Amino acid sequence: MTQKSLLEGNERLIFEALPTGVFIVDEQKRVVDINTLALDILKYVKREILGRVCHEFICPKKEGACPIFDKGEEVYNLETVIIRKDGKRIPVLKSCQKVELEGRTYIIEGFVDISERKRIEEENLKLQEQLFHSQKMEAVGTLASGVAHEFKNILTPISGYAEFLEEMVEDPEGKMYLDIIKGAAERGAEIANKMLGFSRKTPVDLRKFNFRSLMGNFVGLLKTTIPKNIRLDFHYRTRVRTIFGDPRLIEQALMNIVINACEAMADGGVLSIVVEDVDRPASCKFRQLERFVKVGISDTGHGMDEATKVKIFDPFFTTKQSGSGLGLYTTYNIIDRHGGCITVYSEKGVGTTFNIYLPVLKKKEKKRREVKEPVESDGIGRPLVFVVEDEKEIRDMIRITLRRRGFDVVDASNLTEAMKLYERIKDEIGLVILDVVLPDGMGTALLNQIRKEKGETLRVIVVSGYPKEFSEIRKIMKYGRIEYLPKPFKPQTLLNMVLLGPM
Ligand SMILES: Nc1ncnc2c1ncn2[C@@H]1O[C@H](COP(=O)(O)OP(=O)(O)O)[C@@H](O)[C@H]1O
Ligand SMILES: [Mg+2]
Repeated sequence: MTQKSLLEGNERLIFEALPTGVFIVDEQKRVVDINTLALDILKYVKREILGRVCHEFICPKKEGACPIFDKGEEVYNLETVIIRKDGKRIPVLKSCQKVELEGRTYIIEGFVDISERKRIEEENLKLQEQLFHSQKMEAVGTLASGVAHEFKNILTPISGYAEFLEEMVEDPEGKMYLDIIKGAAERGAEIANKMLGFSRKTPVDLRKFNFRSLMGNFVGLLKTTIPKNIRLDFHYRTRVRTIFGDPRLIEQALMNIVINACEAMADGGVLSIVVEDVDRPASCKFRQLERFVKVGISDTGHGMDEATKVKIFDPFFTTKQSGSGLGLYTTYNIIDRHGGCITVYSEKGVGTTFNIYLPVLKKKEKKRREVKEPVESDGIGRPLVFVVEDEKEIRDMIRITLRRRGFDVVDASNLTEAMKLYERIKDEIGLVILDVVLPDGMGTALLNQIRKEKGETLRVIVVSGYPKEFSEIRKIMKYGRIEYLPKPFKPQTLLNMVLLGPM
């Protein structure tokens, strides 16, 4: 640089104090001045920059593509990048202006670092995607549980009446047909239960359980079952011993991921499982929970591309010839219902990691599990049973089952009728069997009434195959001693519950 500095005295002071990064470029596109803020952002010292062609780092455009010099365009708040000394591209908003100084043309370029804004925008976008995804899963879940519910209502009378007939039919061939009917109904119920398992409407049997031994057993099982060409690496790096949840479901969730991992390593590899403590992961929507335990399951398999990755939790999405596409969907729902979340990292040809986060509850919350109360056998002494159930077949089945055992039964098929009838016979009733979702309201309205008038002196069995929300059942459970019988149920199960109390 032969020329003297363009800016002196007060001009220089102002130049250095500007709240934007500024540099000045001459007609040969060489940097003739730059202020401190610009140097801070670029991480250069001044002498490394002066005299260099601006395209090299400040405005990474190809030769001949400079908007100002080559195209004569105005630049105002243009979103572009500058290249930091370490090569990192910093997003900026840039404005340029041509000026004449001492008979020469210069360009003054000012820029603002927008990395932080970009980061927030990206985070918002991610959150939006997450929201969209969870809404989609919710919709599919609702659909699945709706179908499963209908299914169960059809199956309940089929298996129920088959059981009645079994006592009446003497003919061996008839008995065989009945067995077939019962078997088919049971298979149907299994499928319905599976479908409810995919949806989020099923109640989860939450309880405090020994997570450490679950993981121990799980890994023990894997050692004997995974293919010989896969090495298992297991690390338990947490002090968490117990968590709150359904161990059966959690094991299923983990197993689905392990099966996929093994399938992705057909030619062998390493399966590593690491359990450790973490703070609440950003992707977890349950803000009130603080401590989580993370189960990371990694494989060195074929990995997946972006397009696959965004679909893996969708029901029925599979890239396998005989895949069901339900493994990860089920896992997602199970973890979600436990208040946890799941993330995935994958690189094609390198491998995949699934991280499962499960909340570790604080001491107070651990006690939530309701205690079963001892119930005297046959404690109700054949009193009047009040049945509220809208499905005719199920109502009939309950009535027949109970009458055959000597109970008197009065029934109602909707809430309005039930409330009226209850007023008339409330002093004679000894047991209420109540469906939750009724055509004209929730069974909880009647329950409220009962608890208000009779406290816990009147026994209530809630039956439902479709807890509108699991929380609905939870709410009901808070009303005191209430027993819950999930649909479909066999007449014998109902009778056992009525006679012996909750199992
Ligand atoms: N560990 C993994 N490595 C590579 N791809 C995987 C992995 N886990 C899941 N996937 C992809 O996700 C898809 C869905 O998995 P899943 O829901 O378990 O259904 P399925 O195993 O029946 O295909 C798989 O078909 C596969 O493309
Ligand atoms: Mg699978």
